Amino acid sequence: MHNPKKFPEGFLWGGATAANQVEGGFNEGNKGLNIADVLPGGKERLKLLLEPGFDFEVNKEKYTYPNHEAIDFYHRYKEDIALFAEMGFKVFRMSIAWTRIFPNGDELEPNEEGLAFYDRVFDELHKYGIEPVVTISHYEMPVNLVKEYGGWRSRQVVTFFERYVSVIFNRYKGKVKYWLTFNEINSGLHFPIMGLGFAIQKESDKYQSTFQAYHHQFVASSTAVKLCRELMPDAKIGCMILYAPVYAYDSNPENVLYALQEHQLFNYFCTDVQVRGEYPAFIKRYFNDYDIQLEIQEGDLELIKENTVDYISLSYYMSRTEKVDKTEEEKGQGNILSGVRNPFLEASEEWGWEIDPTGLRTSLNQLYGRYQVPLFVVENGLGARDEVASDGSIKDDYRIDYLRNHIKAMGEAMEDGVELMGYTPWGCIDLVSMSTGEMSKRYGLIYVDKQDDGSGTLERKRKKSFFWYKDVIASNGEVL
Ligand code: BG6
Repeated sequence: MHNPKKFPEGFLWGGATAANQVEGGFNEGNKGLNIADVLPGGKERLKLLLEPGFDFEVNKEKYTYPNHEAIDFYHRYKEDIALFAEMGFKVFRMSIAWTRIFPNGDELEPNEEGLAFYDRVFDELHKYGIEPVVTISHYEMPVNLVKEYGGWRSRQVVTFFERYVSVIFNRYKGKVKYWLTFNEINSGLHFPIMGLGFAIQKESDKYQSTFQAYHHQFVASSTAVKLCRELMPDAKIGCMILYAPVYAYDSNPENVLYALQEHQLFNYFCTDVQVRGEYPAFIKRYFNDYDIQLEIQEGDLELIKENTVDYISLSYYMSRTEKVDKTEEEKGQGNILSGVRNPFLEASEEWGWEIDPTGLRTSLNQLYGRYQVPLFVVENGLGARDEVASDGSIKDDYRIDYLRNHIKAMGEAMEDGVELMGYTPWGCIDLVSMSTGEMSKRYGLIYVDKQDDGSGTLERKRKKSFFWYKDVIASNGEVL
């Protein structure tokens, strides 16, 4: 299909992953345990984290741990990067596992083996002219910081994070030009354990803890931006949000206000601070209503004001529909967020995620309209079951359709005036699902022979979407 919308020269086409979902080698090279390493496999894995008795230890008698081996990128990165190069990737989004560099998070000296691993990965990418886009923290907090410090509730974690950032910036300043601070930073508003490093068990403490932890992350993020500017004046550093534009279920003014006030404005909470450099006006009333009193140290607000990000990166999988009175039966599906089902949208077959490419165009316009800084879609994709045919081929036309329609929506948004830096579809190679730990929920353009029960040869195969995406990149988005 020919796409009438032209993508600009230098558009950053690529793919996205996170260390904990691809690397494996969970205890190799002196790596310490992070949250993902203690996440058991299975659809209930995120719920388990919230159980009061959950101890954040590995218990192999009781559970399986799909992230421990994942797809073994730790040993197979050369083969994988060669495949990315074959598709023509300009960039590759990956994360650094904090616990490869600081196994417990609170050491004074970094772990050389971990640093050397990422040197090898970056060098391999550069061999093919692929620029790494590096997430500093992608749901990979050291377990020690969760257990001993209560995650981001503790101000001390800011100091540990600064040390980690200073080490990786000094080490990789000649090798990495694109950085992201915290993956889906706003997800902690809905599910704090993965991003903020603590599980809420007491309703009374929920609001105060969450926003204090956010304040610490904002200070940490601004410190990273400041350091990045000092050490790498030519690099770009962005924030990263989970963006699902919120629609009112209908035109009932009560539902419209509810969708805006209780949901859509919170889509902007983190970006307002990280891009505009200030807490937004709407949050002041919320802080009063819930009796939230932030502990703010001298200099914090100035630091936040002076060190705003260069760009906004976002994950976009679906939109969200909200109404005041919703019943259990009406609820939609998602990994962290869900509203009510939208009668105008179809959903993915097994996992029920609604498919809404138009919502991506809406999202990009909303974000660009509010902030006027470049945007970067660093996650988007369809989790689906793939079948390997008897001739070895994998005909994932459903995935091609999904990606094609979202790329078209990006083209339209650029025509609308949005400045878009690039596109890195999620799980460009099959990986472990964050919310369910499944391998069968596949996002990849590259198939990995690894099954939910841990069996499989780990062999990589090119899916039909691999060849399709190669043409998309080669034609700079003209051939879809
Ligand atoms: C995003 C996360 O929320 O969605 C990824 O940043 C995650 O880590 C992706 O894998 C897809 O979600 P899931 O639950 O299908 O893996």
